[in-house]
Amino acid sequence: MTRINATNDRLRDSAPSSSPGSAMTHVVTDNCINCKYTDCVEVCPVDCFHEGPNFLAIDPDECIDCTLCVAECPVNAIFPDMDVPAGQECFLAINAELAKEWPVIASKIPAMEGADLWDGMPHKLPLLDHGDGSKPAMATAGPSGAA
Ligand code: F3S
Repeated sequence: MTRINATNDRLRDSAPSSSPGSAMTHVVTDNCINCKYTDCVEVCPVDCFHEGPNFLAIDPDECIDCTLCVAECPVNAIFPDMDVPAGQECFLAINAELAKEWPVIASKIPAMEGADLWDGMPHKLPLLDHGDGSKPAMATAGPSGAA
């Protein structure tokens, strides 16, 4: 729990801002956590999605900015890096780091149990499971306990 909190805090604090001229990418954001519908991976032409326990990450070095995945996500969790919602800029660093740690996913799998209930829950970042064996801070909380 402590390790995940520390990692999430470090990624939040180190979130880069996009600068003119830098390579663009798309970014998976907060609302994917505990939903993980995976419709997005079916349309990615370069297999840039990587799967963790309750979230997907886009590899910014592989993403070609085709935008196809944006419309496929039923919970509107994917944004261009220049258009990430305010307060979610940390997900640029989170995607970049976790994409290096997690395996590629290229085929759709069933959504997470209760995904429809997690859609739209705010501030799910403390629930992000890095898959390193430790539990997320709020692993036992259900959708009703996450608000
Ligand atoms: Fe997540 Fe949406 Fe893809 S919920 S797994 S970004 S389809």
